[in-house]
Amino acid sequence: MVDVDEFIPDAKAEIAAELGDDTAIIALSGGVDSSTAAALAYEAVGEQLVPVYVDTGLMRKGETEEIREVFGYMDSLRIVDAADRFLGALEGVTDPEEKRKVIGEQFIREFETVARETDADYLVQGTIYPDRIESEGNIKSHHNVGGLPDAVDFEGIVEPLRDLYKDEVRSVARELGLEEVISERMPFPGPGLAVRVVGEVTREKVRVAREATHIVEDELEEYEPWQAFAAVLGKATGVKGDNRVHGHVVAVRSVESRDGMTARAQELDWETLQRLQSRITGTVEDVSRVVYDVTHKPPATIEYE
Ligand code: XMP
Repeated sequence: MVDVDEFIPDAKAEIAAELGDDTAIIALSGGVDSSTAAALAYEAVGEQLVPVYVDTGLMRKGETEEIREVFGYMDSLRIVDAADRFLGALEGVTDPEEKRKVIGEQFIREFETVARETDADYLVQGTIYPDRIESEGNIKSHHNVGGLPDAVDFEGIVEPLRDLYKDEVRSVARELGLEEVISERMPFPGPGLAVRVVGEVTREKVRVAREATHIVEDELEEYEPWQAFAAVLGKATGVKGDNRVHGHVVAVRSVESRDGMTARAQELDWETLQRLQSRITGTVEDVSRVVYDVTHKPPATIEYE
């Protein structure tokens, strides 16, 4: 385990030395990694850092408001509303890797714009150790802004968390005073709810994934999962009153893990499962069925795409 009291001043000194008087941007997603990297870099260089939060329309419920609350103290914070552009670009795209590519490219376009406007010389990234390992193994095209360094001629890239595991990042976040909603928050993938919708991403399916994920996170928080969320699998028949309806099938997933590289499906009691089922079908419109995913990683992945 990293010694946080040593790590923080060392990392800040490294960031300040790299940047000198130059400016940097960081893509702030609201996740633990980018939030911690941003808070660390902001302590090191203040307004020379421009944190950029892109609202892709694929974020968790209330995410944008939370970002504004937690990071509003940074005067240089930029919030970009890009939901229409992301959802437009995803129209008709069904292949999982193609989805990631489309999202990655759109991210690059959004950041390119800000990088030009702010004349940023450096890019700060919240890359952590397991990201580097998975990228090297090329399991998935992983980084949301992976292509940005090629698109923008940065003088350098700063990755202050590059040698840390997730639980170490959480300790750093707590020490930096990042609110519990951030430091204890479950990981959320860069492509957002797009990887929790099987097949084409539509506003309708994103709505279901968002509302259901909110319920799952809320209900399962006490089980302290590494990640718990809902995904939209497709449609199936159900009954509503006297009618047969064709509604969404929602999968609930809750896993234990240390670093996301392997994971175990959590054993949940029947009562909890039934409560989830009843809250999701009762409050999320047009859901006809809820299933629980009992598959470990491997052979499954944590997300659905
Ligand atoms: P999988 O689904 O590959 O996920 O078992 C492992 C961990 O990584 C997250 N994940 C991603 N994070 N971009 C990201 O930034 C991605 O494309 C991506 N895909 C998965 C996932 O939430 C889990 O924590």
